[in-house]
Amino acid sequence: MTGHDDGVHVPTDEELAGMSRDELVALGTKLDGVELIEYDDPWPVKGTRAEKRAERVVAFWFILGALAALAFIVVFIAWPWQYQKPGHQFWYGMYTPLLGITLGLTVLGLGFGALTYVRKFVPHELAVQERHDGQSPEVDRQTILAELADAGNRSTIARRSLIKRSAIAAGSLMGLGLLVFPLGGLIKNPWGRSQAPQDTLAHTGWYQDPANRERVFLRKDTGDPHEVALVSPVDMDAGAMQTVFPFRESERNDPEALQAALTRIDNPVMLLRFRPADAARIIKRVGQEDYNYGDYYAYTKICSHLGCPTSLYEQQTNRILCPCHQSQFNALEYCKPIFGPAARALAQLPIAVDEQTGYFYAVHDFKEPIGPGYWERGA
Ligand code: FES
Repeated sequence: MTGHDDGVHVPTDEELAGMSRDELVALGTKLDGVELIEYDDPWPVKGTRAEKRAERVVAFWFILGALAALAFIVVFIAWPWQYQKPGHQFWYGMYTPLLGITLGLTVLGLGFGALTYVRKFVPHELAVQERHDGQSPEVDRQTILAELADAGNRSTIARRSLIKRSAIAAGSLMGLGLLVFPLGGLIKNPWGRSQAPQDTLAHTGWYQDPANRERVFLRKDTGDPHEVALVSPVDMDAGAMQTVFPFRESERNDPEALQAALTRIDNPVMLLRFRPADAARIIKRVGQEDYNYGDYYAYTKICSHLGCPTSLYEQQTNRILCPCHQSQFNALEYCKPIFGPAARALAQLPIAVDEQTGYFYAVHDFKEPIGPGYWERGA
């Protein structure tokens, strides 16, 4: 037996080895100069109805967390997530909210379960200890381990199998749910062609179906979603700009498709007719020299920064302004960004005029992602 700064006898290694956990706990508090003011067992009488009820409340939260974690995994993998046309977006639109709700409930269940457990079952301890400097000696380390084990023991977690199992289920399912995030990319294929190609992320509404090569015309929005007003070169004065949307003849008698064409997010395109003097100064993008029709140029209206509509065309300077974060694009130089946070030019839609009808049509879809495109860029 050796001495200790506080006058407490420190046992030798052999004596330490022979001490019970209770003795080690008592010794530890003395050595640490800890004064236990309160250390009550929350359930001095075991097996009461109140104790069982408390146990069920804790288990309820853990089970809720486990079920929510399971629901999160199921939603992540099995919920319809592919893009749907406007008017059919209810279930698809619920995908992200459901992920948030289920993950939120998982964290809530686990958090409330742990909190309730600590409040109801861990002995309420009130202790006062003097702080000391330097590394703790071996005896202190052993005794603190005993104290921790004792706290765990007194919290009775070992014999509360309902709480234990529900907590393990919630914890592991949540872990599994978080694992689904990186694994999800291996399960889902955004390039899958399980639905019409024009509805996938890889295309806009200007997509031309290679099966029938049906022309996609440029259409104005007249305010009546079912009215079809196509655009021809004579409709626009020099220096004018108008917003156009895709139209297919096969959709003329399909009110739903006509409406959807006006509301699909990546459809709006700015059709510009430059004044002859401005048109003479235009710098075209390499590889897109034939995308215009005379003085007429078509650019996506979706800002390449964060996707706002870049609808402010300043005719005198030939700049296009995005009102969201003030990006400016030079319409005389393939809509290259010249100010603000946007880093990419607005994508250009190749246009031509139909020989028979005299209306504008899109030669093909955009060559690159529009807006804040996130997948592989072709240009
Ligand atoms: S969305 Fe256009 S500048 Fe930010």
